[in-house]
Amino acid sequence: MSTNAYKVLVLPGDGIGPEVMTEVTRVIDWFGENRGLEANLDHDLVGGVAYDKTGQPITDACMEKALNADAVMFGAVGGPQYDNLPFESKPERGLLRLRKDLELFANLRPALCFDALTEASSLKPELVAGLDILIVRELTGGVYFGEPRGIEDLGNGQRRGVDTQVYDTEEIRRVCRVAFELAKKRRNLVHSAEKSNVMHTGVMWRQEVHKLHEEEFSDVELQDILADNCAMQLVRAPKQFDVIVTDNLFGDILSDVAAMLTGSLGMLPSASLGAPDSAGKSKAMYEPVHGSAPDIAGEGKANPLACLLSFSMALRYSFDRGEDADLLDAAVNDVLASGKRTLDIATPTSEKVSTTQMGEAVLHALKTKTS
Ligand code: IPM
Ligand code: MG
Repeated sequence: MSTNAYKVLVLPGDGIGPEVMTEVTRVIDWFGENRGLEANLDHDLVGGVAYDKTGQPITDACMEKALNADAVMFGAVGGPQYDNLPFESKPERGLLRLRKDLELFANLRPALCFDALTEASSLKPELVAGLDILIVRELTGGVYFGEPRGIEDLGNGQRRGVDTQVYDTEEIRRVCRVAFELAKKRRNLVHSAEKSNVMHTGVMWRQEVHKLHEEEFSDVELQDILADNCAMQLVRAPKQFDVIVTDNLFGDILSDVAAMLTGSLGMLPSASLGAPDSAGKSKAMYEPVHGSAPDIAGEGKANPLACLLSFSMALRYSFDRGEDADLLDAAVNDVLASGKRTLDIATPTSEKVSTTQMGEAVLHALKTKTS
């Protein structure tokens, strides 16, 4: 393996994370053996498993590896046994620290409805057939990180919980810039979702996105939408959207809605990107949008496709291998078309397969497509 090999840090995490990540590493190996991808994989702990072993949801040593990696592949974190841990020890803090310390401010969450899955959506097939939208979620600011935050004892038997929604100009501009750039390569339409009717950050968000639009992207169509209306429109007529850019919290919620349009949370990948350095390379982490699903962990029921599609985003955005990304996407499409389904996307007539069988089916489809 040459010294130019990409450094990939694999963090399977908790719950179904390890199961789905096993399938991803098999697919990474396949690309190494068959397509010349040079990747050095390193594994480490994050989330509850890291807490159990080290007392922290992510160690400084692991963070150091993440900072030096070309890409981080992340599984999922969390589980009921960690619910009562102090805030700073919770598994989710490992994920949030990765996002924050790597400065991954742009979270790309595509919601693409595969033809074979239109029936799995809870919406009518005609509403979701051919759906292809991209949510660009701000990931390092807003109420997730704003200060002050905490729970205060008011002394009279009452407590006060505080979280702060805060955005600076540049935090808004840099994520909106990513959204406009991506829209140019798609259908050239950006919806900017905020609550400018009730929030100061919303008013400012709207002003800043328009300023940037006038200065740099007047050739892209920009539409404002209130975040609550956006949620409603996503389930009413999702195909009206192309790119949706929004803040951290609204992005969290809207991307779950968008995910369900595609038939299953188990289908939605994501990429979290930082600013490009002087060589044009961005720090990056790839993770499925689904969580750790502790209720089905270890049973071979999890759908590995969201994590596999997240690796496809790594091929596209970190390794500059668009063709290989297309190949993997097409292989997933073929597997779905063949009728194989994990439980979450199963229909009465489909062939139900386990996590491992789904991974094997994708590997088989990759072989068939390239032989
Ligand atoms: C997500 C998740 C996370 C979030 C949790 C696990 C902290 O829901 O990536 O959407 O709220 O951002
Ligand atoms: Mg979420």
